[in-house]
Amino acid sequence: MESTESINVKNILGLQLPTDPRWVNLAEISLEAVLTDHAYCEQKAATTCISLIQRYSDRVELVEELAPIVTEEWGHFRLVLAELKKRGLKLGKQRKDLYVNALLEFQVKGGSVDDTFLDRLLTMALIEARSCERFKRLSEGLEDPYLQNFYRRFMESEAGHYKLFIELAEMYIDKERVRKRWKEWLDFEAGLMESMEVRGDRIH
Ligand SMILES: [Fe+2]
Ligand SMILES: [Fe+2]
Repeated sequence: MESTESINVKNILGLQLPTDPRWVNLAEISLEAVLTDHAYCEQKAATTCISLIQRYSDRVELVEELAPIVTEEWGHFRLVLAELKKRGLKLGKQRKDLYVNALLEFQVKGGSVDDTFLDRLLTMALIEARSCERFKRLSEGLEDPYLQNFYRRFMESEAGHYKLFIELAEMYIDKERVRKRWKEWLDFEAGLMESMEVRGDRIH
């Protein structure tokens, strides 16, 4: 039988597997490392939206919808930076992002313009969904009420972005095709999460 947690995650985001609960083990995690990883995630979210706008400048709605997201993600980056500073912590070096690299590997190679476009949007939808799920865990797992609220706000925002990337895909690509490919992405991601947990890799 499934736990309430995994049903909850599935209902909200369609993710097949919840994050390993050990991920929010406060005795072990370093807030500096979590905030550093988080800072780079926000930065990448902003730059990816910029490259989508550059590549698909002819898709008016996409440009209009993603332009404010760039500002929002950059604002998130700045909030995380401010949090580091406030706590006397440093923005560390960017780590190799095994999770995102594996997702990029799964993107279609040599497909049609629409295939590539769809995979780019679904990659972003997935990253947003997984970030949202992790922020939810942090907001529920951390004891400090300030940090609970800090992460709850990110969680809500990333949930909105996940929804937006799916909606953008459906705006340009046949809904049935989006649904079918999304299912393939979810299956792939579930396998990826499992293999990363087996190896003990940390993802942001
Ligand atoms: Fe963000
Ligand atoms: Fe986001």
